[in-house]
Amino acid sequence: MRTHYCGHVNESHLDQDVDVCGWVHNRRDHGGVIFIDLRDREGVVQVVFDPDAHESFVMAERVRGEYILKIKGKVRHRPDGTVNENIPTGKIEILGKKLEILSAAETPPFVVDDALDTHEDIRLRYRYIDLRRPQMLERIQFRSRVTHYLRDFLNNHGFLDVETPILTKSTPEGARDYLVPSRTHNGEFFALPQSPQLFKQLLMMSGVDRYYQVARCFRDEDLRADRQPEFTQLDIEASFMSDDQIMTLMEEMIRGVFAQELKEALPSEFPRMSYAESVNRFGVDRPDLRISLELVDVGDLMAEVDFKVFAGPANDPKGRVAALRLPKGCDLSRKQIDAYTRYVSIYGAKGLAYIKVNQLADGRAGLQSPILKFLPDDVIESIMERVGAEDGDLVFFGADKAKIVNESLGALRVKLGHEHDFIEHGWKPVWIVDFPMFDCDDNTGKLNALHHPFTAPKADSVEALESDPENCLSIAYDLVLNGTEIGGGSIRINSEDMQQSVLKLLGISVEEAQDKFGFLLDALKYGCPPHGGIAFGLDRLVMLMCGAASIRDVIAFPKTQSAACSLTSAPSKVNDMQLKDLGIRLRKKILEQDN
Ligand code: AMO
Ligand code: AMP
Repeated sequence: MRTHYCGHVNESHLDQDVDVCGWVHNRRDHGGVIFIDLRDREGVVQVVFDPDAHESFVMAERVRGEYILKIKGKVRHRPDGTVNENIPTGKIEILGKKLEILSAAETPPFVVDDALDTHEDIRLRYRYIDLRRPQMLERIQFRSRVTHYLRDFLNNHGFLDVETPILTKSTPEGARDYLVPSRTHNGEFFALPQSPQLFKQLLMMSGVDRYYQVARCFRDEDLRADRQPEFTQLDIEASFMSDDQIMTLMEEMIRGVFAQELKEALPSEFPRMSYAESVNRFGVDRPDLRISLELVDVGDLMAEVDFKVFAGPANDPKGRVAALRLPKGCDLSRKQIDAYTRYVSIYGAKGLAYIKVNQLADGRAGLQSPILKFLPDDVIESIMERVGAEDGDLVFFGADKAKIVNESLGALRVKLGHEHDFIEHGWKPVWIVDFPMFDCDDNTGKLNALHHPFTAPKADSVEALESDPENCLSIAYDLVLNGTEIGGGSIRINSEDMQQSVLKLLGISVEEAQDKFGFLLDALKYGCPPHGGIAFGLDRLVMLMCGAASIRDVIAFPKTQSAACSLTSAPSKVNDMQLKDLGIRLRKKILEQDN
C-alpha cells in the first residue's frame, strides 16, 4: 500500500511521488491550505493540500485526529522559514495529490502525545492508543532490537533456543504460584512457572549442553516499579562451564548489547564484590555504585557508651551500629532531618541520630547533636576520624538489628545520593558473589535458600555443608546495574545426595521432597553434568537501557499495580458450568461479596 514510511521520507526523495499511510497526528487549516501531520511507527511527515487538488482537498477537510489515511503526493522542499530542524523529515513536505480515508476514528480519550499527563489507569485501559505515542513505539522497537541482539549472541555461542512448559508444577523461586485448575484431573492444579529453573537443569541432564529461552515467568508477589506478576527472563544454562566462565561470557553479551544499541562502553571487566562487603558498605546486595556515600561500622566504638540505643546493638551479635556521612550536609534543616527520620522508619528504624560537623578543630564545641551528651570525647574523635568527617558535613547513625540498619541506611544512602547529587552519570555494573547459602529466620530459626534450593554450596561434601550450614557460601552470582538486579544465577547441585541434604536443611522432609521434586531427584540418579546458568530480567534490562521509570513502560500490555489488566478486565469471573467442569465450588464468603 505504501512506498515509504512517513518517518523515512527525506530530501533524497525530492520531486518523487510517494505513497504514505498513517494516523493523523494533527490537522491545521491555514485559510485555504490544509496541513496534515501524518504519523506512523517511524515518525511524522507533513502533507499539504491546496484547493487545486479539489477532490482530495475536500476529503482533507473531513479528516480528524487519529483517522488513518493513505496519501499519494510529491515530495518538495519546505518553504524558507518553515524548516523544522528537530525532526528527520523537517526539511521536506509532501504536496498531497490523493487522499484515501482507510479508517475513521472517534476522538481518543487522550491526545497521542509524549508530553501527556494522563493517569496510568486510563493509559492502560486504552493501551492501543497509548502505544501509538512515539516514545512508546520507540521503546517497543528498542526492546525488539535488544532481544534480537541477545538471541543472536547466544545463537552464535552455541546456545539452543528450547521452549519449556507453562502448565507445570511449582518451581520454588520464593513467590506464590499462579495456579491453573485441571479439568481432566479434578481437584488438581498446574502451577505457572516462576522460572524455567528445573526444566533447564533437566535439559543439561539431557545433553542439550547450552540452552536459552526468552521465557515468560509468573510470580504472585507484591508489585513495585520493577516487578510484574508476569515478566520475561532471558534464561540461560550451560554444562561444563565454571561460574567464572559463565560470568565472563555474560559480561561480553551485556557489554555487546550496550555498545550496539546505546553506543555506550561498559567497563572491560565488571568488578566483583562479595555479598558481605556489599551489605557492609552499602546496606544492600544490589548496590548503586554511582552513589559515592558509604556506610561505616562504628559498633566497636559504641560498645561502652552510656546510650542504650547504641550500646545495645553494639553488643548484640546480630546488631549493627553504622554511620553514613553526608558531605556538606550541615545545612540540613530540622524539618529535612525529620523527613529523613520518617523515611527510614518505613524500613523499621526507630530513629535517626545525627551529628552536624560545624568546626572539627573545635572538638565537641564544634559539633551539634542531641546525642553528643552521651558520647565521651575519645569516642567522638574516633567516629569523626573513621567516617572521614570534614567541616560542614553531617553524619547519620543507625543502630538496631543489622537487617534493619542495613535496609534503612541502605535506602537512605540512595535517597541522599539522588537528592544531594552524590551520583555519577553513566553505568556501573557489578557482580555480587559469595552469597551465603542460607538465610536464617530469626524468629523460627528456619533456614531459607538465599538463591534457590538447587544452587551449589561452596562445600566439597555433604558433611562439610551440614557441619556449619549457616556459614556456608554458595556459588551464586547476581549482576547489578546502577542499583537494580538485572540478573542472577548459580552453579547447580549435580549430585542427588547433596540435593537431598540441601532440601533437608531447608526443612523439607524426604516425602515432601519426593512429592515436589521427585522428578529432579530421580533425574540426578541417571547422570548429571556439572552445570550452571543465569536469568536476566529482560524487562528490567530494557527499562534501564531506555531510561524508563517503570517496567510497565517497556511491556506492551502490562498488569496494573494490583496485578490486573485494565484493558481486558482480567482476571474475571467464570460461569458456573466452567467451575463445575473443573470441580470447583467458590467459598460462600466470595459468593456473598459478589451479591
Ligand atoms: P531470579 O529469581 O533472581 O532467578 O530471577 C532472575 C531475574 O529476573 C528478574 N525478575 C523480575 N523481573 C520483573 N518482575 C519480577 N517479578 C521479577 N522477578 C525477578 C530480575 C532477576 O534478577 N531461576 C533463577 C535464575 C537462575 O538461577 O538461573 C531465577 O529465576 O532481574
Ligand atoms: P532519644 O533518646 O530516643 O530521643 O534519641 C536520641 C536520638 O537518637 C534521636 O535523634 C533519635 O532519632 C536517635 N535514635 C533513636 N533510636 C535510634 C536508632 N535505633 N538508631 C539510630 N538513631 C536512633
